[in-house]
Amino acid sequence: MAQTAGNNKLKVSSLFCGCGGMDLGIQGNFDFLDNHYAALPFEVVYAVDNDSYSTKIYNDNFEHKCEIKDVRAIIPNEVPDHDILLGGFPCQSFSISAQNPPRLGYKDDRGKLFFEMVKILKEKQPRFFIGENVKGLLSANKGKALPMIVNEFEKAGYHIHFKLLNASEFGIPQKRERIFIVGFRDFDDYFNFRFPRPNTLNGSKVKLKQVIDKEAHKDEKWFFSQRAIDGMLRVREKMNKGRVQDLEQPCNTISAHLAKVSLNGTDPVLMVGERYRRFTPREAANIQSFPLTFTLDSVSENRQYRAIGNAVPPVLMWHIANALVNSCVYEEVMNEEVMNEEVMNEEVNELIEA
Ligand SMILES: C[S@@+](CC[C@H](N)C(=O)[O-])C[C@H]1O[C@@H](n2cnc3c(N)ncnc32)[C@H](O)[C@@H]1O
Repeated sequence: MAQTAGNNKLKVSSLFCGCGGMDLGIQGNFDFLDNHYAALPFEVVYAVDNDSYSTKIYNDNFEHKCEIKDVRAIIPNEVPDHDILLGGFPCQSFSISAQNPPRLGYKDDRGKLFFEMVKILKEKQPRFFIGENVKGLLSANKGKALPMIVNEFEKAGYHIHFKLLNASEFGIPQKRERIFIVGFRDFDDYFNFRFPRPNTLNGSKVKLKQVIDKEAHKDEKWFFSQRAIDGMLRVREKMNKGRVQDLEQPCNTISAHLAKVSLNGTDPVLMVGERYRRFTPREAANIQSFPLTFTLDSVSENRQYRAIGNAVPPVLMWHIANALVNSCVYEEVMNEEVMNEEVMNEEVNELIEA
């Protein structure tokens, strides 16, 4: 393992880190709504993204810093040793909403970026990796994209589990479905791993109204103009537009597209009285389960929407990382802590005896 003495955390390298949804989730120690998501035994030692705005948000929120870099420029043996590689590899080419241009899947250059993960896995052979992508990956390239990607990961020496998870089943006010691919270098880890079980078995999903900022109702800037409403109403029946959200339910999926939200698109919007309004960037971050302490303000609102819309919900990532700890890592961490405690006790005894 790539651990340093005195630190029993597993080291994480994060490709396509964006503003850090996955990275926050895997490290834990944050609050969302009434819950505390405990610190997990992971420490990010290397993070890269080529977007200077997302990385700015990232660097405002984490002690360690990420690099602005194209992952294709990474020389694998220069990546620091790590135990787990993360990669929410770009998804536009697999997305069902990306019909224009048509879905090219792995034939598109952006669809090939997961190969950069494969390259690093081949060279560094970390114990685990976690990849994330849109649901459309399941059907992209007539169903051939996912098996091809899994096959490449297997050729790099990994056993693979994958599963489609819905954020709304894990305490997040959003019906966001994403596929998670978890890779294991060691068969025992693969055998022991279980994806987290939905924690809404009693039917209690977090409602959108729990994360709405009522102060924003008072600010004209978030409301659509009458002209935009008239334009939408002219085509609404035919186009099924005007995606007003039910406050009593989790929100529909939000995406980077919120930066360009219009009433003629498919992005979710709010209805306040008789008027339509868009979400504020902070509300978008709430819908994605970022804690209120996560700061966004150093980049423009458009850039905030993009970074937040692209992110993996930290709470969802926390549940996956926690499941990994419980099924594969917990005993080791506990053993190491017991050993540390024994060493400490011995040292105390020696001092007492002296
Ligand atoms: C789905 S988002 C990842 C979100 C991130 N994992 C999170 O949880 O916040 C994909 C990211 O890939 C980045 N990206 C796209 N092409 C890239 C490239 N060639 N090199 C580095 N990063 C790239 C984008 O800027 C974007 O932030």
